[in-house]
Amino acid sequence: MITLDDIKADPVFQTLIERSNAYLRTQGYTEHGLRHVSYVAEKAAEVLSQLGFDERTVELAAIAGYLHDVGNVFNRTNHSITGAVLAYQELRRMGMDVEEISTVTTAIGNHEESIGRAVSPVAAALILADKSDAHRTRANRLPDDRRPGIHDRVNLAITDSRLYVDKDERTINLEISFDQRICQIMDFFEIYLTRMEMCKEASTVLGCRFRLLINGLEFLGNLSFSYS
Ligand SMILES: [Fe+2]
Ligand SMILES: [Fe+2]
Repeated sequence: MITLDDIKADPVFQTLIERSNAYLRTQGYTEHGLRHVSYVAEKAAEVLSQLGFDERTVELAAIAGYLHDVGNVFNRTNHSITGAVLAYQELRRMGMDVEEISTVTTAIGNHEESIGRAVSPVAAALILADKSDAHRTRANRLPDDRRPGIHDRVNLAITDSRLYVDKDERTINLEISFDQRICQIMDFFEIYLTRMEMCKEASTVLGCRFRLLINGLEFLGNLSFSYS
């Protein structure tokens, strides 16, 4: 059975990830390189593992996480679909079972905001891991003194972020420390609102409630107030 380690050792994937990141960097996008995909692989696996999914499903989530952004090697637009096709081809070359490839590629094909849905546990875990990777280390610093764009300003303002599962409470929590001297929390929502809504849906698919905390304040969580 193909493992994440086999995929990490494959020079084709390594090149695709590096070239995708290089292309996005020229377009002013945040970091999408080995650091990002390794984080997403690890987090997607962790979420499913903590919720008690079997070992192989956990491994498939890690594989989907590692490969989810390879479609950027062609173009940012529809990179989830081109990435799914690319991953399908390369995983076939490596001899992976088609059932397993389908689980991975359905998740990859559904991680993009505009067209993606949390259609399976692996897709849900991938969405949560990908959308939670917001941190100042991802900001694409400009070579000159131009003012950074909104994505970079928001990422620069995020001094710490943590995604974790609370098994007993059945919650998936995203805690963010945000430096409001660098950027407004409104700016965070301008670019992250759809992503946070995807996280909410993904958590529901996994039988959990999504909680978003910024500087300790709950922006999404339990509604304890009754209107009646
Ligand atoms: Fe992506
Ligand atoms: Fe990504």
